[in-house]
Amino acid sequence: MANPSLLILAGDGIGPEVMEQVKRVIGWFGEKRDLAFDVSEDLVGGAAYDAHGTPLHDDTMARALEVDAVLLGAVGGPKYDDLDFSVKPERGLLRLRKEMDLFSNLRPAQCFDALADFSSLKKDVVAGLDIMIVRELTSGVYFGEPRGIFEEGNERVGINTQRYTEGEIDRVARSAFELARRRSGKVCSMEKANVMESGILWREVVQKVRDTDYPDIELSHMYADNGAMQLVRAPKQFDVILTDNLFGDILSDCAAMLTGSLGMLPSASLGKPTEKGPPRALYEPVHGSAPDIAGQGKANPIACILSFAMALRYSFDQGDEAARLEAAIETVLAEGARTADLMGAEGGTPISTAEMGDAILGALDASL
Ligand code: NAD
Ligand code: IPM
Ligand code: MN
Repeated sequence: MANPSLLILAGDGIGPEVMEQVKRVIGWFGEKRDLAFDVSEDLVGGAAYDAHGTPLHDDTMARALEVDAVLLGAVGGPKYDDLDFSVKPERGLLRLRKEMDLFSNLRPAQCFDALADFSSLKKDVVAGLDIMIVRELTSGVYFGEPRGIFEEGNERVGINTQRYTEGEIDRVARSAFELARRRSGKVCSMEKANVMESGILWREVVQKVRDTDYPDIELSHMYADNGAMQLVRAPKQFDVILTDNLFGDILSDCAAMLTGSLGMLPSASLGKPTEKGPPRALYEPVHGSAPDIAGQGKANPIACILSFAMALRYSFDQGDEAARLEAAIETVLAEGARTADLMGAEGGTPISTAEMGDAILGALDASL
């Protein structure tokens, strides 16, 4: 049988730096675990704009629709700030999500024991934390029409539209409930039904899906602003959080800091489960291209490596190997490996991106 196929789109800024370490990890699984992938690489974001004048070439889009999974680094950067909106690096990523129909974005936030002291919150608030944010990814205010900057009388008006159909809410709710069944069975759905009609519909549909097909799930609803507060007050009250595209973007960056650093958070973006096999999927860290540290060998590659672990689990049915990789990361953190973003008040010398890769490969070897 042919090897499973992976398309790597490293992107901009620290994207290629962290992806370099993921490629070493992929190579390790091929060599040591007989788990080889057919890997191809292409451009996305500013790098694609520089080469082709577009943040995602049509050929790259077509390839993304063919492969078993896409791994993405990060896109964007100050160099591209003044580009026309239609060709900004971020548009490349949004096109991938939309055309691959990746409506369910899983953003786990787990606090590794070794980092519990390092969070900006008190240790007992975050120790043992393990939550999963399910963010709707292909609709809402990111894509709703009308949108644009228009002339209105003697001034301009900027418009974006929060729009959700019942079907869009239904399908992402199901993905959260399915996931919750494999965890604690608890889902908290977040919107602003107190001020937004789209929030009222969101709440109604989520409740109906639960009552009809998932009566075993313990479902609660919370206004998203309270949710943000509760996430930093007492995050362990949550297991699965279900929310829309924009609230999910913000709440997941917030959850990142519970784990110690944005450099730790992976994500999986999944489409509809197919009868033939796993859904279309794209895996990427939650963080961006980090222009402030790009090119310095300082970036933490763990979020991107954990994103590959999610690919092993969700696209390739290799849960045990995913767990092996996660355990290797846990080991190196317990042994004190720290990139600069993980340096706490206790000080010490940070290691580089490549040295973190070395340490993880060493721990993988030791796991055999
Ligand atoms: P960012 O996530 O790039 O950086 C925020 C802060 O976190 C910075 O101080 C950065 O140094 C730090 N950081 C992020 N990842 C890190 C890592 N792996 N290791 C160590 N430190 C890390 O967010 P930003 O600065 O607001 O955005 C920069 C660019 O990235 C923008 O163009 C934005 O649109 C883009 N962006 C892209 C993605 C993506 O590709 N999925 C996600 C978020 C932002
Ligand atoms: C993310 C990013 C993206 C988003 C941008 C880069 C389009 O912030 O993946 O969290 O807003 O979804
Ligand atoms: Mn974001």
